[in-house]
Amino acid sequence: MTPADHLPEFQIIDDADLPVADSCLRNQQPIAEVLEAELPAHSVVLEIGSGTGQHAVFITQRLPNITWQPSELAERLSVINARRLRSGQANFLPPLVLDVAQDLWPVKQVDAIFSANVAHYISWPKLRSMFAGMGRVLRTSGLAFLYGPYNYEGKFTSDGNKALDEWLKADVDAEAGIKDFEQVVLAARKEKLRLVKDIAMPANNRILVFKKYA
Ligand SMILES: C[S@@+](CC[C@H](N)C(=O)[O-])C[C@H]1O[C@@H](n2cnc3c(N)ncnc32)[C@H](O)[C@@H]1O
Repeated sequence: MTPADHLPEFQIIDDADLPVADSCLRNQQPIAEVLEAELPAHSVVLEIGSGTGQHAVFITQRLPNITWQPSELAERLSVINARRLRSGQANFLPPLVLDVAQDLWPVKQVDAIFSANVAHYISWPKLRSMFAGMGRVLRTSGLAFLYGPYNYEGKFTSDGNKALDEWLKADVDAEAGIKDFEQVVLAARKEKLRLVKDIAMPANNRILVFKKYA
């Protein structure tokens, strides 16, 4: 029996049809370097908004002692699962349906959380729900990594980020957009997630690292 036999609802897509996000190809190496440096060995990591599943493939290959639990909106699971089957990585778990706005999350406790380019893609109410869920499922002293662009003191850090913000509001969701770093830190703190690092990444992105306190 193959893993796919347990997942009859998934549509298996041919390799050639799998979508590729160019941004992942550019940022996967620097992201993996940060996770390799910061994550304790043998961590179980929940990924929120796994997208194409490319980060899951790259990181599970690069960090074989990490167990990676991807999650996404239901409509995107088939692509992630196709990538999982193609990768053959045992530490790449079958993806879970997780909308950050859900009250109940499909995991009980994890050692760490990773999410790339989701905070700016969703509205403030959804981001607050996401932090609430992260606060519930992240174990005490666990780390959460939020990769993406942020504004500082109310200002965009590049013209590219300003253009991204305009595109998000026009084409994705009028309530989406790049969030203010200072507001993100406060919203996280409300859920017992304390900022411990703000790491500069290529192309005017950051990785915000939060630690769950008791
Ligand atoms: C810009 S993409 C980033 C995908 C991937 N993490 C990456 O870095 O390439 C934003 C992702 O957030 C997901 N997303 C949007 N709303 C969501 C929600 N309410 N709950 C969970 N994921 C959501 C989308 O399906 C999409 O895959």
